Amino acid sequence: MSTLPIAQKVAADMKSASWIREMFEKGRRLKAELGEENVHDFSLGNPNGAPPAAFFAALEAVAAERAPALHRYMPNAGFESTRRALARFASSEYRMEIGAEGIIMTTGAAGGLNVVMRAICNPGDEVIVLGPFFPEYRFYIEQAGGRMVLVQTDEQFQPDCDAIVAAITERTRALLINTPNNPSGAVFSAEACRALADLLKRYDRDDRPLYLVTDDPYRRILYDLDWCPTPAGDYARTIMVSSYSKDLSIAGERAGYIVVPPAVPQREMLLGALTMLNRTLGFVNMPALMQRVVARCAGALCDVSFYKANRDLLCGALLEYGYELEVPGGALYAFPRSPGGDDVAFAEKLLEHQILVVPGRGFGRPGHIRISFCVERAVIERALPGFRAAIEEA
Ligand SMILES: Cc1ncc(COP(=O)(O)O)c(C=O)c1O
Repeated sequence: MSTLPIAQKVAADMKSASWIREMFEKGRRLKAELGEENVHDFSLGNPNGAPPAAFFAALEAVAAERAPALHRYMPNAGFESTRRALARFASSEYRMEIGAEGIIMTTGAAGGLNVVMRAICNPGDEVIVLGPFFPEYRFYIEQAGGRMVLVQTDEQFQPDCDAIVAAITERTRALLINTPNNPSGAVFSAEACRALADLLKRYDRDDRPLYLVTDDPYRRILYDLDWCPTPAGDYARTIMVSSYSKDLSIAGERAGYIVVPPAVPQREMLLGALTMLNRTLGFVNMPALMQRVVARCAGALCDVSFYKANRDLLCGALLEYGYELEVPGGALYAFPRSPGGDDVAFAEKLLEHQILVVPGRGFGRPGHIRISFCVERAVIERALPGFRAAIEEA
């Protein structure tokens, strides 16, 4: 019997290194010592763009509404009117016809991913995740009784189909992808998306369904393309999970949703499971006030040019200083190779220049550092001499 006051697995997870937390703690100490303005913090992916005007207009309008039922419990999948608005938006975004019955409102993409993993994983089922990856995935999968199987992408952070095939076993239940990617900023090419869909079709069977789960909160934070390629339209058994955390820059409002397209086999049963788990996991779904807000501005988008200007400034300078870097096509992160190879050592070196980044091993890919560029432009400008000095010293 365990003498711990908490579950053993939770205790082990708490001890396992979270590099983001570690850098956060180092940053906190440094800021206390040197003053907030003298530390250049690129460690957190907290979107700092302003929400669009349409969001504030919707917020004001719903705050003025006085009907009695507006703040009570709602149907477990969300308000019908919100799901209809989301269905229209998702149909255009994913370029396929999606009805309101295929939309489930969630507490952020994080809540949505937890619900999906719970719905599809039997104990010991494997979920393939492509590295580098958002480190919370492992918890979402393991909390559902599943096992995360890490498969690396190639040098350009594009999916490596041979490596994925080699990782597929009788227990593989899902492939979880994220494009544009946190932490690499990579956008999977249309060709790569088609190859993924073809690969999945070869292994999906009625007696052993293989899901594609796309984690899409950065889909519209895109710099060089008009539309983010996805395998979703070419592979029937796909579940999309997304949120307004980045699109509307409202991460604190926990506004997420799941999309289950009409082509998904045995869709009714899956929708029923997702809806029930949303309730029994305690999320119920996206808070009522926000549901009424996003129903009024479902297609609105924050000013992506703000992040693009940051990307261009940061990445242009890093390339000029000699960093090896795949210029991110989307999301809020640059993921250059760490000069000298050792990502932890280089993150420490940057710290000597009051610059906080996260070592790539925190995302399952050592040898890189993640630089979050959702910061004020002045922070990047002040940090550039430090980035230059650090690579010269390394
Ligand atoms: C790749 C990825 N997926 C999911 C999430 C969770 O997003 P949300 O705020 O919608 O829960 C994040 C948040 O940073 C993320 O980077």
